[in-house]
Amino acid sequence: MNDTELLATARAAAEHAYVPYSNLRVGAALIGASGAIYTGANVENAAYPSTLCAEAVAIGHAVASGERAIESLAVVSLDLTAIFPCGQCRQRMSEFNVQRVIMEDPTGDPECHSLEELLPGRFTDWRRGSTST
Ligand code: THU
Repeated sequence: MNDTELLATARAAAEHAYVPYSNLRVGAALIGASGAIYTGANVENAAYPSTLCAEAVAIGHAVASGERAIESLAVVSLDLTAIFPCGQCRQRMSEFNVQRVIMEDPTGDPECHSLEELLPGRFTDWRRGSTST
């Protein structure tokens, strides 16, 4: 699946967003190391901090299905021209070594970023003897 198709898959997932509070529909789609595709949409909550981001749902879906590494992850909003993943989701991506983060540029074309660009000096498992990669 190419980046344009992955963005389209994320866009379709965003249709299922549950967003009574922000009305900001976000969708994510990722390709796991196995090659399988997983999707997520944001799921809000009356207790606002209990909200789940679209990326968190997609990553949870992938990991709970047996994936331990992620190749590409696309994130898109139906209500914003460009959306960048929040800091917590960048850290979640770090845990599973997301190689490529795909977003839409202002014209709607795919734009690819590395995690090193999005989360430089990231914290990784301290038990492996390093605080960053
Ligand atoms: N949101 C995401 O789903 N992903 C992000 O990376 C940024 C924010 C959601 C959370 C909340 O439902 C809404 O966007 C507004 O913050």
